Amino acid sequence: MTTRTRFPSRWQDGILVLGAAVVLCASNVTVAADKTSESLAVTQSRFGKTPQGQAVERYHLTNRNGMSVDIITYGARVQAIELPDKNGKIADIALGFDDVQGYIDHADTYFGATIGRYGNRIAGGQFRLDGETYQLPQNDGPNTLHGGTQGFDKAVWAASPIETDRAVGVELTHVSPDGDMGFPGELAVTLRYTLDNDNDLRIHYSAVADQDTVINLTNHTYFNLAGAGNGTILDQVAMINADRFTPVDETLIPTGELADVAGTPMDFRTPTAIGKNIHADNQQLDYAEPKQGGYDFNWVLDTRGNLDDLAVRVSDPQSGRTVEMYTTEPGVQFYTSNFLTGSFTGKGGKTYDHWGGFTLEAQHYPDTPNQPDFPSTTLEAGDKYSQTTVYKFLPE
Ligand code: GLA
Repeated sequence: MTTRTRFPSRWQDGILVLGAAVVLCASNVTVAADKTSESLAVTQSRFGKTPQGQAVERYHLTNRNGMSVDIITYGARVQAIELPDKNGKIADIALGFDDVQGYIDHADTYFGATIGRYGNRIAGGQFRLDGETYQLPQNDGPNTLHGGTQGFDKAVWAASPIETDRAVGVELTHVSPDGDMGFPGELAVTLRYTLDNDNDLRIHYSAVADQDTVINLTNHTYFNLAGAGNGTILDQVAMINADRFTPVDETLIPTGELADVAGTPMDFRTPTAIGKNIHADNQQLDYAEPKQGGYDFNWVLDTRGNLDDLAVRVSDPQSGRTVEMYTTEPGVQFYTSNFLTGSFTGKGGKTYDHWGGFTLEAQHYPDTPNQPDFPSTTLEAGDKYSQTTVYKFLPE
């Protein structure tokens, strides 16, 4: 059933009513709104529920270029990104699941998730702040990974739609109580995903705590520009704007050194196929994945927090699809899905191979709370944490 009407834009009982057109779907309470002037639209629907019975919502964002992004409130995740190729053929380029249970069963993939309170690893699950020692759950060998056993990826976030003159999106909020996963202070987080007609998926994070704490938020979307479940990413070509990276020990904790990428497989300063050096005989690649090697490191971005400077670009020569990353963060974790083995089924019944996707996790460096020379991740009580990261998709 389709109804067209003219009203001023407003939200009414969780339903977006925009000036140009309103589309009512007969099957459920979902209402799509189409802002025809810019062809931007946001649709809200039920995605499912957690085993505890909490409802999980999905927000479907579309633009005039045939691109769409789905965000779900379970883990504030990017659940899908549909993007045309150079011939207009659309594919979903984000790895993920069709239902909440998939995300629960394969939680260690962190597919699409918002990561908090601390992205990547904290050595020994411990840090000191203001003279106190804090102990976190050790969920990755001796270390804490991605905020501990019940990180932000497992929270059901509160959500409301966003509609501005040039973008549509969803705002998500989550309050992490004092002591959550061992971290000090209550932390209130607001996250805004927006999509515009330039194919920019913009993520803006802000947070405030009532005690001094540490914070390192990121997004853990796995991209495969050939389409999720469509082989490996080894022929896709990456450029990372970084002269240095942070080498790690065998548990993937930074040694503290900022090492030159020159002469190593970590040199992506000029566009290089991801698979070109992935098999190189290199201790760091072995630490990342002992059997076949892989990338799972933090690069020290030369963009120095400048959102206008290109941080990373990855292109698929075959499809012509490209993702660029711009960020206010000082680092990026480039991870080549070394732990995927094709052993489970993702969206649409597809399986995800070893090296079947890559992540671009804008972040402060891993283990910063134990590394006094790294840019600080301390958030003082009452101060505002802020991060903007943009994934720009081509062709437009
Ligand atoms: C990050 C880590 C990887 C891995 C993935 C999740 O990228 O650095 O080692 O744990 O998350 O599977």
